[in-house]
Amino acid sequence: MVTGGTGFVGSHTVRAFVEAGHSVRLLVRDREKVRRVFDPCGVAIPESDVIVGDIADADRVGEALAGCDAAFHGAALVDLRRKFAQRVLATNARGVDLVIGGAARLGLPSIVYVSSIAIFFYPGSPPLRLDMPVAQASTAYAQSKADAEHVVRRFQAGGAPIRVSYPTGIIGPDDPEMSDANHALYSWYVDTGIDTSGFFQITDVRDLAALHLRQLELPEGAHRHVAAGPRLTWRETYELLDELTGGRVRRIPINGRVLRAFGSVGDVIKRVYDFNLPITRDAMEYATGWPGVDGSETTEQLGIEFRSAATTYADTLRWMYRAGHLEAKHVGRLADG
Ligand SMILES: NC(=O)c1ccc[n+]([C@@H]2O[C@H](COP(=O)([O-])OP(=O)(O)OC[C@H]3O[C@@H](n4cnc5c(N)ncnc54)[C@H](OP(=O)(O)O)[C@@H]3O)[C@@H](O)[C@H]2O)c1
Repeated sequence: MVTGGTGFVGSHTVRAFVEAGHSVRLLVRDREKVRRVFDPCGVAIPESDVIVGDIADADRVGEALAGCDAAFHGAALVDLRRKFAQRVLATNARGVDLVIGGAARLGLPSIVYVSSIAIFFYPGSPPLRLDMPVAQASTAYAQSKADAEHVVRRFQAGGAPIRVSYPTGIIGPDDPEMSDANHALYSWYVDTGIDTSGFFQITDVRDLAALHLRQLELPEGAHRHVAAGPRLTWRETYELLDELTGGRVRRIPINGRVLRAFGSVGDVIKRVYDFNLPITRDAMEYATGWPGVDGSETTEQLGIEFRSAATTYADTLRWMYRAGHLEAKHVGRLADG
């Protein structure tokens, strides 16, 4: 049983599951979107295995879980607007309780949940590790991920075989709605990038999907794995993109301290004008102070190799061009072939 299957991470994970021979049942909000997302990649999901419903609806979640032997919970409401704060907190908390808790109460032998490595981040933190305490969050979405972590750990401590992935910013092709990190990459081309101090660390969505498949198939136990690909400085990131396309991303150099102050201003403006963009103090702290996280233990334990930034960015830009998000003038030589 899969939630979030029509989302970015979920759709790649479903592809990985189906290609490995698993049958999936999807709990989705929009039946039509299943066709839009999976027809182009040749993945056939039988109509009878598509349950339409909300992760906060106990009856629909129960119906979706019935008869399944594993669960993958990739659905989350991601919205940074203040007016949706209560809804984000309530939906994501109830979703974790119904899907993860429901699967645990049914005694399913394998349960996979997508967390975020950002739950451990605080300004000035050392490189992130899974044994660090969950940090204080300031947006409803971040708080919902932190809250979920505590719930999931309680179930794990009670013996539930929950396997958790902790990704960095996720980049990759075939994104149904252009999620956060992909949107940042897109906006550097159609708008402008910020060249500041600090790092941008990505995980390729296809590597994350491969990790979820490995986690699903682990024979027993509760597990936690970092999903973390290359960490480049902002300058290295832009230089790599320029090399790949033969063009130049327009970028403005901004000092980290100025950018953080800008984020604080964004927080104040958000109290009056409720926009859904990550111009917050929090986001600027991540952008300018990302301490990094090491994914090599996941590679050693599960054989998941995180591909190079060049491969991820090239494939993603090619897809953005083919899908009509970017024009040939943006992706330069990547448009050829
Ligand atoms: N993207 C990143 O950089 C990143 C980084 C770290 C962690 N994560 C985590 O990865 C997971 C997947 O994120 P994503 O990037 O794939 O996001 P996404 O593309 O927005 O996918 C979210 C999925 O959740 C579904 N959903 C939202 N609210 C729902 C509800 N009330 N009931 C049923 N389904 C609902 C959406 O359904 P629709 O298809 O109908 O919209 C969508 O399929 C999330 O838990 C997120 O916190 C993401």
